[in-house]
Amino acid sequence: VKTLRTQSLDLFPVHVEVIDFEDDPELNAALLEAARTDPALGSSTSGKSALAGDAPWVSKLRARYAHGIGAWLGETMSGARYDLEAYVFFNYTNGSSFTPVHDHLIEADLVAIYYAHAPAQEERPDGSYYAMDPGVLVLHDPRLDARLDRRGVRTKDHYKIYPRTNRLVVQPASIRHSVTPSPGYERLAVTCTVTVNRKDLFEGYLPLDLGGSEHP
Ligand SMILES: [Fe+2]
Repeated sequence: VKTLRTQSLDLFPVHVEVIDFEDDPELNAALLEAARTDPALGSSTSGKSALAGDAPWVSKLRARYAHGIGAWLGETMSGARYDLEAYVFFNYTNGSSFTPVHDHLIEADLVAIYYAHAPAQEERPDGSYYAMDPGVLVLHDPRLDARLDRRGVRTKDHYKIYPRTNRLVVQPASIRHSVTPSPGYERLAVTCTVTVNRKDLFEGYLPLDLGGSEHP
């Protein structure tokens, strides 16, 4: 039998880092207190970045992001120079909640989600798609035909990440994600949207003036 030249390729992986830091009750309690008392921290657009303040928790939170984002970049852009900018906002719930599928392409290249407070729950990553546990972060496969690939949990059309206090998730802004409904518990996810090398990318761009023209 003639040997066929065969290239068996797995292309275009999505890199995600999930880091469980050591418990820092002081940091997490301070973040929870800030979330409960300052709703302005919950704005992803018009508010000011939560890292802009001088609260004592800012440097500790920044260090956790730096570790996780550095790990992500170290795996994917090893040796490269990066120019990073970031915006941080709180995602706080103490009632029932649900987040539909979305991405962060318009405002970021990377997203880092830090859970300052999440209820303890048993992790069942292989559980049914149709019977999800409450409050789970679900990453959705960007491939349109993901149902054809049944090799295992890494190639399933979704991947579940359970929120856990002290857990940081770093993922590309492009990956669509959602949060399953939860009936009413307190959870604080602090989200950091990061741009990578945007200044370089935008070099040579000039302001675009539409001249106040009226759109029909
Ligand atoms: Fe999100």
